[in-house]
Amino acid sequence: MAEPDVLPIEDMAALACLKPCVPMYAPMTLRDLTPGQTKLWCTCGLSASQPWCDKFKPLKWKVPDKQQTLYSICNCKYTRDPPFCDATHTSLPVPYTRGIRDCKENHAAVTKLCCKCGFRPQPPPPTPKEKVDEPSITTVRA
Ligand code: FES
Ligand SMILES: [Zn+2]
Repeated sequence: MAEPDVLPIEDMAALACLKPCVPMYAPMTLRDLTPGQTKLWCTCGLSASQPWCDKFKPLKWKVPDKQQTLYSICNCKYTRDPPFCDATHTSLPVPYTRGIRDCKENHAAVTKLCCKCGFRPQPPPPTPKEKVDEPSITTVRA
């Protein structure tokens, strides 16, 4: 897998033209992050390892050296203070869904993410497992 294009955490403005999708309308409360450790905060909302990045364009954040037990890390992706939750998620659902509804892009052609509104196609339903022939049960009477 290619290394993601990492931006410093102060560079949130560089992503202002991109609208992420919303993995969750709430923060993730994480315990005991290692002080001094570098974390890559997912900015697009597509990572399977939320709230951290697994491939696209993360913001690089260093866990503060001062020990802290709990961190409230944004997982709606619309915070103005990444990677921390600033409660933007509480007022996000209506403008987010309205933005998707009013977007002029062709969402039928979007495979991953519409960067104009944050639309993400729903994954296809899981395919039913192949039918396995049940062994027939024979009752034997004594
Ligand atoms: S989860 Fe994003 S601001 Fe709270
Ligand atoms: Zn769109």
